[in-house]
Amino acid sequence: MNDQSLVALGLCRPPFSKEIPDSDLWMPTSRQTVVDDLAEAVEARQSALLVGEPGVGKTCVLRALRRRLPGERYRLTYCHNATLGRRDFYRQLCLALGLSPKATAASLFFAVSSHVHELSGNRVHPVLLLDEAHLLHPDVLGHLHILLNYEWDSKALLSVVLVGLPELEDRLGYSAHKPLLSRLNARLRIAPVSADDTTEYLQHRLKIAGASKELFSREAAELLHEHSGGVHRDLDRLADLALRDVVRRKRKVVDADHLRPLLGQHSRAA
Ligand SMILES: Nc1ncnc2c1ncn2[C@@H]1O[C@H](COP(=O)(O)OP(=O)(O)O)[C@@H](O)[C@H]1O
Ligand SMILES: [Mg+2]
Repeated sequence: MNDQSLVALGLCRPPFSKEIPDSDLWMPTSRQTVVDDLAEAVEARQSALLVGEPGVGKTCVLRALRRRLPGERYRLTYCHNATLGRRDFYRQLCLALGLSPKATAASLFFAVSSHVHELSGNRVHPVLLLDEAHLLHPDVLGHLHILLNYEWDSKALLSVVLVGLPELEDRLGYSAHKPLLSRLNARLRIAPVSADDTTEYLQHRLKIAGASKELFSREAAELLHEHSGGVHRDLDRLADLALRDVVRRKRKVVDADHLRPLLGQHSRAA
């Protein structure tokens, strides 16, 4: 959205951009509960699974978790390039942890697990956040429980948080991945939001973008909910489209009559 459109709408920044500061994330009770459950698992030095359809807000929950956990006690490492084989996966992990990458799979694994040991000696708990984990290579998924094993599997020195599409849960049900699944204490799911939540989300995003009045009629918000299926990323895209359209037509509020045909051309699948 360009500056002229923002001025016309009385906004100081694009309201539905992905560039939202962690402190401005929308956190209704239902979403806060997911963050709390993840934080509790990590504080208890456990591992967790978080699944949900694309765009429902999983990665934003990780950002809220980052904001929640004190940096001096938790070392969060975020990895989202999930399609690597085992050796490259551990090499990526070495780089993300600031370790020099080693040549062999065994020495890479050793470097990562020694680092985890070292952090625990400094009273820092490492947390490995694996986003897009439904894409993880079977060799990596089948090996992760070994990374969670310290001192004859008697010490919880590392938390792994696996985040991905619902099919990740099915994959973890395969016998090869049961050792990992059984170590994921917290198993959480984010569902698309309700119609009331959609309205609240739209108002929240507009408010932090500087809006001083409603920009969507009640019926327009309902239509946006219907067409987005309560999925944030689709909602952002359609709401942005609707606002650009209202500026083009030199009107002040998005109403259902103008929005309906627009959404017809830009449905969820489009
Ligand atoms: N809690 C939230 N507060 C504000 N915006 C959100 C929130 N959750 C999701 N969004 C919006 O929806 C988009 C998609 O969310 P994201 O967390 O990337 O989804 P997922 O990881 O499930 O695919 C984000 O870029 C952001 O614009
Ligand atoms: Mg994501």
